Amino acid sequence: MEINLTVPCLLGVESLVANELKELGAGNVKSENGRVFFTGDCHILARANINSRFAERIQVLVGSFKAESFVELFDQVKALPWEEWIGEADSFPVKGYSKDSTLFSVSDCQSIIKKAIVERLKQKYKLEWFDETGPLHQVQFSIIKDRVLILLDTTGTGLHKRGYRLEATQAPIKETLAAALCQISRLRPYHTLYDPLCGSGTILIEGAMMALNKAPGLNRNFSAVRWGKINQEVWVQERDRARSLEQKADDFFAYGSDMDETALNYAKENAKRAGVKNQIEFGLLKLSDFKPKSERGTLICNPPYGERLLDMEQSEALYKEMGQIFERKRGWSYTIISSSETFEDSFGRKADKRRKLYNGMIKCQAFMYFK
Ligand SMILES: C[S@@+](CC[C@H](N)C(=O)[O-])C[C@H]1O[C@@H](n2cnc3c(N)ncnc32)[C@H](O)[C@@H]1O
Repeated sequence: MEINLTVPCLLGVESLVANELKELGAGNVKSENGRVFFTGDCHILARANINSRFAERIQVLVGSFKAESFVELFDQVKALPWEEWIGEADSFPVKGYSKDSTLFSVSDCQSIIKKAIVERLKQKYKLEWFDETGPLHQVQFSIIKDRVLILLDTTGTGLHKRGYRLEATQAPIKETLAAALCQISRLRPYHTLYDPLCGSGTILIEGAMMALNKAPGLNRNFSAVRWGKINQEVWVQERDRARSLEQKADDFFAYGSDMDETALNYAKENAKRAGVKNQIEFGLLKLSDFKPKSERGTLICNPPYGERLLDMEQSEALYKEMGQIFERKRGWSYTIISSSETFEDSFGRKADKRRKLYNGMIKCQAFMYFK
């Protein structure tokens, strides 16, 4: 059965998501701002959950239509084939958002969508009441400029949660964004990766997992695993498939350093939990003491942003220091993500390439130096 699917993603990584979905075998891949649409069967649904490095979650696109009134919303939601997904005992809470639309009250939309699904299922199952004690089928909606997407979340906890990270350090970068930075920096399995401001180690861990072709979702669970709709065998086969594609990367190595010892301890623990501790060496080091350990290197980091004035001055000083330490050298590339508009002035060189990326709600750029 072909299923319409969609992925919400961080702004700026749509093309990375689209490419990885194509590589995973998805069909009809199309992207728009912050979202990618595709089609596939149950295997693709499971495969995307297990393997995607850049997607935030995988949703079934149950329907999409225009609605400017509650009646239109109700009728069109009720017309969707909910019984194909939601069983008699399943729970199906509804949540979502509305932007720039006639139907702006999220709580009203929420209850109307819920009511429409209940009405549909009442007729189909000849039931008056649903206990909703079964597996979670989280219904989500997105209403933007009166265009409604009705979605069923297959993922549960967001895909950025790979399951290896202890939540403890300040300002860790999101795993999906760290993976995206490795991808746009063209990290290869024979590269030496550096992050001299590594904090809890996310960039290095994501880079090592990429080099070893370790699927980020292999060791976690997903909502749809508990759905009656998808055969357990599908998940078993897809996990086996992902495991069989892991590769050795004897030439890959990563070096991480930071001046914060507590963060480094978390980084080491996280690397162990992610199964990449043999690929990464950590050291307690100030940026000013940074020394490359290889002839060539791919350096990626996310320095502190600095929201307040004093922090901003410190950040600019750090960028200046980076500009002096990250020398223009054959075989070296540097990618630094920052929200600072004046990053290049402080760093002292114009980037060879810039790429807009969002770190959550913060508009950033990846400044890339490779010449
Ligand atoms: C935004 S955090 C990096 C977060 C990291 N990517 C992660 O996933 O946890 C910035 C890091 O830079 C470190 N840092 C700031 N100034 C530094 C310096 N001069 N030398 C070494 N580390 C520094 C901080 O200790 C902090 O861990």
